Amino acid sequence: MSSVLVLHGPNLNLLGTREPGVYGSVTLKEINAQLMALAQQMGSEVEILQSNHEGVLVDAIQNAPEKHDGILINAAAYTHTSVALRDAIAAVKLPTVEVHLSNIYQREAFRHHSYLAPIAIGQISGFGANSYYLGLQALLTHLREHNAQNV
Ligand code: DQA
Repeated sequence: MSSVLVLHGPNLNLLGTREPGVYGSVTLKEINAQLMALAQQMGSEVEILQSNHEGVLVDAIQNAPEKHDGILINAAAYTHTSVALRDAIAAVKLPTVEVHLSNIYQREAFRHHSYLAPIAIGQISGFGANSYYLGLQALLTHLREHNAQNV
């Protein structure tokens, strides 16, 4: 059974009330419940962590290989600033999918660059909460195909 670590970065705990015109009205609790249901449907499991602290996210990534086969991450603002998160993901070498609720390329110029994109297997941006669900499906499909090759 594949296991995925889902990481939510800073301010995503405020989803539902935070800039609903940009991020929608869905709460993080609702997104997490949907991710858990989807993982179960696909015969997999997820562990979910939200943190406003870069080091907590780095620690979670470093520990991920002990329990998980892949990472689904919305690094939020750290997407655009964090060499530390990028280096942690590169170090553990787990397949990682980057997601964003908003289309970061349609927004301010400082959001157009992602430190994670070059080390992610792919990125999904702009579909609201569906970005997470599409990202999880893409990651689980990738893991299934990759594991099949190793059988
Ligand atoms: C975000 C986009 C980031 O630019 C922003 O800092 C966020 C959320 C998104 O999901 O659209 O906090 O990652």
